Amino acid sequence: MPNFLPIPTTPLETPLLRAIRDIHARFTPLHDGEVASYIPELGKADPDHFGIAVATTDGHVYEAGDTTVPFTIQSVSKAIVYALALDMLGSDKVEAAIGVEPSGEAFNSIRLKADNRPFNAMVNAGAICCSGLLAETAGDEAFELIRSTLSRFAGRELEVDDAVFQSERQTGDRNRAIAYLLRTYGGVRGDVDHVLDTYFRQCSVLVTARDLAVMGASFANHGVNPVTGETVASNYAVARTLAVMISSGMYDFAGEWIYRVGVPAKSGVGGGILAALPSQLGLGIFSPRLDAHGNSVRGLRTCAALSDAFDLHML
Ligand code: DON
Repeated sequence: MPNFLPIPTTPLETPLLRAIRDIHARFTPLHDGEVASYIPELGKADPDHFGIAVATTDGHVYEAGDTTVPFTIQSVSKAIVYALALDMLGSDKVEAAIGVEPSGEAFNSIRLKADNRPFNAMVNAGAICCSGLLAETAGDEAFELIRSTLSRFAGRELEVDDAVFQSERQTGDRNRAIAYLLRTYGGVRGDVDHVLDTYFRQCSVLVTARDLAVMGASFANHGVNPVTGETVASNYAVARTLAVMISSGMYDFAGEWIYRVGVPAKSGVGGGILAALPSQLGLGIFSPRLDAHGNSVRGLRTCAALSDAFDLHML
């Protein structure tokens, strides 16, 4: 009889890590989809990059592939900025300005609800309105507030990719049109360029798949970053943000997504997907080839495979 005890293993550890590596190997040959190029600088991304990270609510991170390669957060930022606005400005103000209905349309649709509010904070119109509300209150400090909140969700200081910011600023006429339309209804007030610069900068913050997993785990852990132990959002903000992610986080693919994968998620045209399964884990995927909805092709397949393998569907 040996005089030492076996080293305990986390029950999920070996199967989870093995599954992540298997899924990474299985989907690496998948070359469907196109890198986003409507923001010219994004077209320079290496289409072969592929990273998968899982962060659990007890603070463990499991990774395979390109999980430390930086890319711009793009629309994934919308979820965290919405949570920030709910906490900082109060739910009455935010909910009066932005709806919580799925639009069933593309992320860049210019259509508003019948009451002239954006459908929700996950589409561009709602996110521009949300950044505008923060800019109205925080002025020139608005972007730093957003950057530091994104950083606290990730557990490290995040920076902006200035080339992507400039590129989107130069070519973002559709968002400019949306912002001016919103201003006619009071959904954006004041200087449209300042609001858009805040929004374009927030989309240009650099993250990794690992960061997205930790951000997801901060949502899953009810607003406490499980790696740093810091409270980064209130329970109210987390629950409402995840609710909007369920109905609208994947745009006009949201119904299919929640039916098949069953985990609240948010995608970005940089190729990132963040998913958060309450009380369990956050997922961060990076693969820049996108489908027609603007969602990462390998990211979708990876999340679906992980959901099947570990029965992650919430319902
Ligand atoms: O406003 C835009 O078009 C981009 N900065 C973000 C769009 C985006 O990420 C849509 N996501 N899949």
